[in-house]
Amino acid sequence: MIKIRNIHKSYTNGQNNLHVLKGIDLDIEAGEMISIMGPSGSGKSTLLNIFGILDNYDDGEYFLDGSRILHLNERKAALLRNRMLGFVFQSFNLISFKNAMENVALPLYYQKINRRKRNKIALEYLDKLGLKEWAHHLPSELSGGQKRRVAIARALITQPKVILADEPTGALDSVTSQEMMDLLTEINQTGITMIIVTHELDIARHTQKTIRIIDGTIQEIVKNEAGSQKPEGRSQVRSTKYVAASNVQQKKYEKVA
Ligand SMILES: Nc1ncnc2c1ncn2[C@@H]1O[C@H](COP(=O)(O)OP(=O)(O)O)[C@@H](O)[C@H]1O
Ligand SMILES: [Mg+2]
Repeated sequence: MIKIRNIHKSYTNGQNNLHVLKGIDLDIEAGEMISIMGPSGSGKSTLLNIFGILDNYDDGEYFLDGSRILHLNERKAALLRNRMLGFVFQSFNLISFKNAMENVALPLYYQKINRRKRNKIALEYLDKLGLKEWAHHLPSELSGGQKRRVAIARALITQPKVILADEPTGALDSVTSQEMMDLLTEINQTGITMIIVTHELDIARHTQKTIRIIDGTIQEIVKNEAGSQKPEGRSQVRSTKYVAASNVQQKKYEKVA
C-alpha cells in the first residue's frame, strides 16, 4: 500500500539546513496496522506528512497504492488525499463554528455530495462511533475523547484505504486511550491500513509492527506479539456495532458516490 525508498527531507530556515529524514526505506502492506515511535524531533510527523501528501520530499521514491507520488500539484494531491487517505491528527482540526455532524460531513462537501446526503451519512458515522446524540453540538461542547471520535468519523467518511494518525491518544487518560486504540484496531480489522505515530509503548504494542525512528533513520522494526488482536472487554459493544454498520454503510455510500 505504501512503499518508500531512500526518502530524504530537509527544512531550510534562512541559513540553516535541517536534515530531518535521512534515507528511509519502508513497505507497509494493505491492511497492516503499524506504529511509528521515536524521540521528539526524530522526524515522525514529517514522515507521516509525506505519507499524507501534505509535504514534499527532497529525494527518494514514494508509491501509494502503486502510484508514484512526486511533484503533484495541489489539486491532484487533494484529490488523492480525499480518495485514499484519512487523517487523525493531534489537534483534531475540527472547525469550531460547525457542529459535529457538519465537521464529519465536510470531506463529502469536497466530493460535491449535496448537503442532505452528506449530513445523513455523517449521522450514520457518528452513530457508529456512539456519538449520535452529540451530532448537533459544537466541538467546544465535547470532551477530548468525543472530539477525537468526531475526527475519526470524519476520517472514515470517505472510506479511505489508509488512516494516518499522529499521536491519536496524546492528552487522553489511560481508559480513553485504551478505547481509542480498540476503536482504531476495529477500523483496521475492516481492512483499512492504519499508521499510528505515538510515543507510548502501551499504544504501540497494539499494532502489528513498530518502526523505531531515531534522528531521521529507521533504527529497527519490531514485531509485536499482541498487536492488532480483537479488542476485548468493555469496548466490545461499540466494536460489534461499528463493524456491523460498516457493511451497510458501504453499500449506501457506493450509491451516493
Ligand atoms: N515546517 C518545518 N520547518 C522547519 N523545521 C521543521 C518543520 N517541521 C518540522 N521541523 C523540524 O524537523 C524536525 C522533525 O520534526 P517532526 O517530524 O515534527 O518530529 P517528531 O514528530 O518526531 O517530533 C524537528 O527538529 C522540527 O523542529
Ligand atoms: Mg510529531
